[in-house]
Amino acid sequence: MTQDEPSLTLPPNYTFRKLKLTDYSNNYLETLRVLTTVGNIEEHSFANLFRIWEENSNIYQPHVITNPEGVVVATGMLLVEAKLIHECGKVGHIEDISVAIDEQGKKLGNYMVKSLSTLAKSYGCYKVILDCSPHNVGFYEKCGFKNDGVEMVQRF
Ligand code: ACO
Repeated sequence: MTQDEPSLTLPPNYTFRKLKLTDYSNNYLETLRVLTTVGNIEEHSFANLFRIWEENSNIYQPHVITNPEGVVVATGMLLVEAKLIHECGKVGHIEDISVAIDEQGKKLGNYMVKSLSTLAKSYGCYKVILDCSPHNVGFYEKCGFKNDGVEMVQRF
């Protein structure tokens, strides 16, 4: 963020925090379903994945925004990739940004992306990158990103 930009704020009583194990039953999966297919995830499967993320917390940084009732209404993941190039540099990857339908338009997505970018910088990343659909380019431009290439994929 430059000095000219207004400081980041959430609506009153909304909170940005790390994902908790208890968010399994606190609208986390439902919020991610706004983004894509999640499938039927049993609580023990979520707990296993959460443990993997916790044990590798230098890499996996799942975050949420909660509303005044404490319910998850936005999600976002920062992955910190340790590389050899750029003198063992680190690259941040932003993934799985999703805002509950009835909470969209309140700048929660903007807050999530900018907060994860700031986090990537604090981890020493020399850049932060993400893939998105063409219809979301304008949103990410408003978050300070620029189109810098083409996403390639091979699906299995
Ligand atoms: N295209 C262009 N501009 C947009 C878009 C869009 N698709 N969506 C929002 N904006 C603009 C807003 O109008 C606003 O502009 P302003 O500052 O001039 O008023 C600005 O971007 C910030 O908008 P927010 O209120 O922060 O957006 P919101 O909280 O609604 O979240 C999001 C946007 C995340 C795209 C939401 O609509 C969503 O969850 N969509 C479905 C899931 C999705 O597509 N996620 C992104 C996947 S890519 C990834 O995860 C790396």
